[in-house]
Amino acid sequence: MAANTNPEVLLLMGPPGAGKGTQATKLARARGLYKLSTGDLLREHVKQGSELGQRAKKIMDEGKLVPDDVIIGMVEGELEQQPVVRVLFDGFPRTTRQAESLDSLLHQYQAPLTAVILLEVDADELVQRLLGRAREEGRSDDTEEVIRERMRVYQADTKPLVDYYHARGLLKRVNGMGTVEEVFARISEVLP
Ligand code: AP5
Ligand code: MG
Repeated sequence: MAANTNPEVLLLMGPPGAGKGTQATKLARARGLYKLSTGDLLREHVKQGSELGQRAKKIMDEGKLVPDDVIIGMVEGELEQQPVVRVLFDGFPRTTRQAESLDSLLHQYQAPLTAVILLEVDADELVQRLLGRAREEGRSDDTEEVIRERMRVYQADTKPLVDYYHARGLLKRVNGMGTVEEVFARISEVLP
């Protein structure tokens, strides 16, 4: 990693279907950030049939979380390859342990967190969006049963991070209802 000029680190948080991936792509492009989506990386492993992919597929298809060590190792590997730390995380961290590991990694790179964006969307709308995506893309974890489990896991394991980041003054709550463009404009407004 080269000397870190102008670091920026954003996190996009929110329940399944909140629009993290959609907004991450737009935001990364607009701000010149590297989009690091742990879900996308895992799906890439599944597609390639790697050992990690084979292990992860079963867990993802059940809507559970892939073990922290696997995820943290993957993120470390990605960050090592970046010339500078200008990164937008989509779907990471998802547990307190992941958040603490990210803190120490960023400390190492002397790149503090810029902001944490929490996308808030009504439960009914989340399900509608995911079922819509199931029809269009056929993601194997977009079935009603697995969506329900992903929501439960979010509430149990990931939602506590809202307090974690709020306590550090980093949390930006953004209304994720409305069109993609409307949500993007709201996110842009709250960022420094
Ligand atoms: P991941 O891929 O992160 O899935 P997720 O959190 O369940 O979230 P989604 O990708 O389903 O939703 P999204 O918020 O990105 O919304 P999107 O923009 O796609 O994780 C999948 C699995 O991988 C996990 O269950 C776990 O097993 C594993 N995993 C990943 N990261 C992990 C980690 N850190 N630790 C442990 N395990 C991990 O939008 C959804 C749909 O809505 C799309 O069709 C989109 O076009 C549409 N849409 C978006 N915005 C709008 C809008 N404003 N109006 C209408 N429709 C919209
Ligand atoms: Mg996503």
